[in-house]
Amino acid sequence: MIALLFVLLVQRQTVSFDPAWRFHLGDVAGAQELAFADSGWRTLDVPHDWSIEGEFREQNPAGVGGGALPGGVGWYRKTFTLPAADTGKVVFVEFDGIYRNSEVWINGQYLGKRPYGYSSFRYELTPHLRYGTERNVIAVRVDNSQQPNSRWYSGSGIYRHVRLVTTNRVHVDRWGTYITTPAVSAGSGRVTIRTTIRNERDVEQPVVLGTIVLDSAGQEVAAVQTIGRVPGDSLAEITQDVTVPHPILWSLERPYLYRVASRVMCGSRACDDYTTPFGLRSADFRADSGFFLNGRHVKIRGVCLHHDLGALGAAVNTRAIERQLEIMRAMGANALRTSHNPPAPELLDLTDRMGFIVLDEAFDMWKKQKTTYDYHLDWDAWHERDLSDMVRRDRNHPSVFMWSIGNEVMEQWTNDDSTVIPIARELVGIVRSLDSTRPITAAANNGSPQNPIFHAGALDLLGHNYHHAVWKDFPTQYLGAKFVITEAMSALNSRGVYEQPSDSVASYETPYVKNHGPQPNKNYRLSSYDNRKAFWGSLHEESLRLFERYPFLSGMFIWQGIDYLGEPTPYEWPARSSYFGVVDLAGFPKDPFYLYQSVWTDRPMLHLFPHWNWTPGDTIDVWAYTNAEQVELYLNGAFQGVRLKEGRVGHVMWRVAYRPGTLRAVARTGGQVTARAVVRTAGAPARIALTPDRARIRADGDDLSFVTVTVQDRRGVAVPTAEPLIRFRVSGRARIVGVDNGDQISHTSFQAKRVRLFNGKAIVIIRAGTRSGTVTLTAEAQGLVPSAVRIDLR
Ligand code: GAL
Repeated sequence: MIALLFVLLVQRQTVSFDPAWRFHLGDVAGAQELAFADSGWRTLDVPHDWSIEGEFREQNPAGVGGGALPGGVGWYRKTFTLPAADTGKVVFVEFDGIYRNSEVWINGQYLGKRPYGYSSFRYELTPHLRYGTERNVIAVRVDNSQQPNSRWYSGSGIYRHVRLVTTNRVHVDRWGTYITTPAVSAGSGRVTIRTTIRNERDVEQPVVLGTIVLDSAGQEVAAVQTIGRVPGDSLAEITQDVTVPHPILWSLERPYLYRVASRVMCGSRACDDYTTPFGLRSADFRADSGFFLNGRHVKIRGVCLHHDLGALGAAVNTRAIERQLEIMRAMGANALRTSHNPPAPELLDLTDRMGFIVLDEAFDMWKKQKTTYDYHLDWDAWHERDLSDMVRRDRNHPSVFMWSIGNEVMEQWTNDDSTVIPIARELVGIVRSLDSTRPITAAANNGSPQNPIFHAGALDLLGHNYHHAVWKDFPTQYLGAKFVITEAMSALNSRGVYEQPSDSVASYETPYVKNHGPQPNKNYRLSSYDNRKAFWGSLHEESLRLFERYPFLSGMFIWQGIDYLGEPTPYEWPARSSYFGVVDLAGFPKDPFYLYQSVWTDRPMLHLFPHWNWTPGDTIDVWAYTNAEQVELYLNGAFQGVRLKEGRVGHVMWRVAYRPGTLRAVARTGGQVTARAVVRTAGAPARIALTPDRARIRADGDDLSFVTVTVQDRRGVAVPTAEPLIRFRVSGRARIVGVDNGDQISHTSFQAKRVRLFNGKAIVIIRAGTRSGTVTLTAEAQGLVPSAVRIDLR
């Protein structure tokens, strides 16, 4: 009886289609056919990125801008059977994203093509399926061979999740609910739910739509039922309004989520069940005073993030994204911009749960190209669909607060209004027709007040990239407008690199004007004092100070939160990843991370740098970031002076004659000690130390432990200059899936089982298997005491 009830109630079935694909790198004739023999192909689970498995080479057609990794053509095939009982249902395959130009077949039948690598899409398989013991094959051809097509590393393949969804012929359409909260207060929240029901039968279907709002504990807080009818072979939208009494509002401190549970009844039978998480919150951008969330002012302190996950490449992993967000949160960031494309759905699930403000961005180009084979080729045929799909997919996420229709599109540089203004208006119209509750912006780096995009009358928020010197003029230049700094900084640093002296600023041109202006170091490393930047950008301290000063700037997004693969400005090969991150590619903070922490967080902090392993006789600039009023410095007990954090300067500095020993700093506010910091001279490298970010992970096949690798001297002091080659072994049900050291010029595979420390640090990433137990990671290096660490899988 219980089993029968279950079958009757569970009308929709969603199963992960990630496991057990066959993969072949290269083009193959006939691989879409059902009968094609793929047994010689490699078996793997998606998400999968074949580029990250390749070799860094200067000749790879993506160029260093794309990360110097290979593209090409790849094929995926997945064989599956369906129970005979599913005959009569409808079946869809859903892809969250394939980079790029994917084409999909089911049992040899062509289903379609999707050029844009960041769009989520699905195909209906029903008419071509076989049931019972007969097998079905989905074949996917991915073509990322035309390069360059991106200004950053894209990855290649089925790099996001795949699902098989089976429903009744009458069901809630894909992304078929749209939930808005038109009036929200502490006393009550109005919730409007628009549900689109698809009827795939050829006769009209009377339905009853039952909608329940559940709180995060699963308690019903509101409910409504509506009778409707859906004509044969069509869609119908039903709008319902409910009130949630005394709602808990979604906020950054308490990102509280409700759920809408929708049930479609067809007569006495349930046809479909569908769940949509959402949040109740109000948002408001004001011209003079910025952003208000639930009526409270919030300064949007954000980061731009590309989609790659460092050593893991583009292959989506929820824990890897969560870790990135945790690191950004520790810096004090409360927002991110999905530069410059729709993100993986998991990212928005995380920002909903963790409490971040998201600027969801659609495109890096419109009709005019940035690279030869980029999306401009697909613009005419696809932009409307891709933009609509992003909004439909993402509009129920409470963390999404703004849409961006594009980043630095080339059209903004023409004063020919015939291109930029109509496109901007068209795109804004598309977004607005699907979601009128969020402001729309575009990120413009043509800062001229004549930039036609600012005059299209289309944007709700004027999005400016860089040019901080003119920020102060905005309110008078653009009367009544609302502003967001969609991008700022583009400072350049390599973690752990310190050049003396620290007080000369270098502003580099791009490689395209090589041998022009100041030349960056020949060793492809850039100092990590905050004194290196791209010529169009600024030092962290400069723009941060101005941003915090102007109340009319609702928010700012740092370029970039975390280093990414590709775009190694100001260098070319052998550099292959960015220098822009406040955090390196492996996830280790560079020093400016603590500048932001000192301004964006309240917990007393003090960060003292650089390391203290120099040559006697050197003169070393010692910097500190703190949120205290003043800092005293001592070298081996000898007082080096006190520095007040005065005026507009975000750091304090001492110029110190180096002697080995101990550097101590004491931060005080109002005479009280708020924080202390110590940096010691390390002796010779003696042993390896392993520190997992989590020593207990889920045995779910996906979870990760990021293990930091350092080298210590005999007394346990980390050696900041150590660069030994470390080899790893893992025993138990887990795998090493990545190694990295954050070095922008390393060409070692991220999938190696060994890594050289870079300025004393590296990371090794362990991925859980599916059975619980204990895993031991062992690390060895010549001349060093080895180390082992236990990780529990539960
Ligand atoms: C911006 C651009 C980013 C990145 C950055 C580097 O102009 O929007 O994608 O290229 O420059 O400074």
